[in-house]
Amino acid sequence: MFFSSFFTEIALFFSWVLYITSKHSLVKMTSAISFLILVAFVFHHARSTTITSDASSPEQPYRTAFHFQPPKNWMNDPNGPMYYNGVYHLFYQHNPFGPLFSNQMYWGHSVSHDLINWTPLELAISPTQPFDINSCWSGSATILPGNKPVILYTGIDSNNRQVQNLAVPKNSSDPYLREWVKSATNPVINLPNGIQHDDFRDPTTAWLGDDGKWRILVGSQKDKTGIAFLYQSTDFENWSTHESPLHEVAGTGIWECPDFFPVLVDSTNGADTSVLNINSRVKHVLKVGLFDYARDYYLIGDYSSVNEQYVPQNELTLGTLRYDYGKYYASKSFFDPVKNRRILMAWVNESDSEADDIAKGWSGLHSFPRSIWLDQNQKQLVQWPIEEIEMLHENEVGFQNTNLEDASLLEIEGITAWQADVMISFKLTNIQEAEKLDPSGVDPQLLCSEMNALKRGKFGPFGLLALATYELSEQTAIFFRVFQNKGQYIVLMCSDQSRSSTRVGLDKTTYGAFVDIDPQQEEISLRTLIDQSIVESFGGGGKTCITSRVYPAFAIGEQAKLFLFNYGRESVMISDLKAWSVKKARINIEETVMCTDQ
Ligand SMILES: *[C@@H]1O[C@H](CO)[C@@H](O)[C@H](O)[C@H]1NC(C)=O
Ligand SMILES: *[C@@H]1O[C@H](CO)[C@@H](O)[C@H](O)[C@H]1NC(C)=O
Ligand SMILES: *[C@@H]1O[C@H](CO)[C@@H](O)[C@H](O)[C@H]1NC(C)=O
Repeated sequence: MFFSSFFTEIALFFSWVLYITSKHSLVKMTSAISFLILVAFVFHHARSTTITSDASSPEQPYRTAFHFQPPKNWMNDPNGPMYYNGVYHLFYQHNPFGPLFSNQMYWGHSVSHDLINWTPLELAISPTQPFDINSCWSGSATILPGNKPVILYTGIDSNNRQVQNLAVPKNSSDPYLREWVKSATNPVINLPNGIQHDDFRDPTTAWLGDDGKWRILVGSQKDKTGIAFLYQSTDFENWSTHESPLHEVAGTGIWECPDFFPVLVDSTNGADTSVLNINSRVKHVLKVGLFDYARDYYLIGDYSSVNEQYVPQNELTLGTLRYDYGKYYASKSFFDPVKNRRILMAWVNESDSEADDIAKGWSGLHSFPRSIWLDQNQKQLVQWPIEEIEMLHENEVGFQNTNLEDASLLEIEGITAWQADVMISFKLTNIQEAEKLDPSGVDPQLLCSEMNALKRGKFGPFGLLALATYELSEQTAIFFRVFQNKGQYIVLMCSDQSRSSTRVGLDKTTYGAFVDIDPQQEEISLRTLIDQSIVESFGGGGKTCITSRVYPAFAIGEQAKLFLFNYGRESVMISDLKAWSVKKARINIEETVMCTDQ
């Protein structure tokens, strides 16, 4: 079996190389046909092979090394992230009894000193009371003056109504805040009149207005109009509804997990949630999760707590600004006072089947924490992996000024390709010869599917083939294409999962988005974090992000390779490349395992 698969791989590789390099159409056709036959063979082979493999942990090839996940079972939304007395806290939606979503959800809890290594603690909030007996859903933490953390969360009550509840630490001297006490006045906010019982959830972190009152938002909908209801309080127990919502948009369906925070107009630093618009130094971001589309959208605008008005500068439509154009939902941010930054994380769900999740014993990851700030042009946000990832870097490799000829492939060697951090800058010459594309009305995701990584263009596709087998029967292609329209350049970024695995029954949707940069003025940069079954990519210095989940059958552990590729007809220059292996972090490894492990 070893020999048969080995020779298949070699043959596949050569037929692919022949296909992309040959100019002669007969050779091209023959090589294409043999390539397809071989792919079919490998595909058949994959279906009849159980996935054991040569992975670092043979039974768990898809468990990640530096992404947050619980010791086992189901996880979804990040909840109540905060920094308190020297410790980072992260709570999460959790079914502690199985790998699938349940109608009894709990708050899992982990703590960290560096946002990289996490220690699991006991459940923080469990469904026990009439006001949350049918689930403890998402919510947020706020640190009140005098350094007092509180949590607001959604409970599903004994009548299956969504209501908002308050919880406080049992002992605020406990550095880990292990136990939380629910307020006797719960629910502190009841379902509003005229709102469906299951359309009222996910309170935000509170902010303080000019009048000294706290404000929060709660997501909702009425007749398909997405709503962010606004509430005010002086004591966190007695909340009053503001007469009009902070914002609403018709036709968008229920808004979940709203987030509302200031961003500085002149700095990449973050600001505490209560920083208001003093001397036009800040803008306010309203992020909402559109449940009907499982996507996080955001607005940038001006907020005044005096007249309680939020005026966004952009519209919320399906084609507008998103944190991430791949799999990335129910995100939440918090202000980190240690490094003066705002940090964002999100739930990245699985793309395999429920049966697969049962076999794995777990489901759901959180994205690697990102710093988030307002771009200089004030038109969009920028995201970048937090610098703490450098703690996990090893085996740096790199080079400069290397030409990637048309139809060429270059392996990035010397790092663990299945756990890696890669940064590349591409430089193009003669882009005035780029192909024409009128982007109006074009859905970039659709364009990426139609012009996938195997379709030759002029400038592009060029980029990375991640988690690839040596002969490329499996590959996740993250790439760019450059077009022009009326003297302007258009950069398209794609993440093509269609050949990411020879396994069937996976969601292999291709993702794509435009990157708002001018390739005449700046190089096109790509940073990609690769971790077993997740690929997170940052284009244009973090202006466009795409996250995907992939489950290779063969490109696992040492079998996983990483290539640069250029399948465009024009060559591109790699002006700079740096890549690292990323070591395994200690993420939610239970104490007993920890001891034997060390
Ligand atoms: C609160 O936590 C501190 C620190 O862990 C501990 O010393 C103290 O005994 C705790 N108080 C109570 C009432 O449990
Ligand atoms: C709650 O707040 C409202 C409005 O500020 C006030 O009228 C009411 O008396 C308060 N109720 C309690 C129980 O404090
Ligand atoms: C989770 O993943 C599935 C399959 O990839 C997708 O259809 C679904 O919308 C996702 N759900 C959420 C909430 O992200």
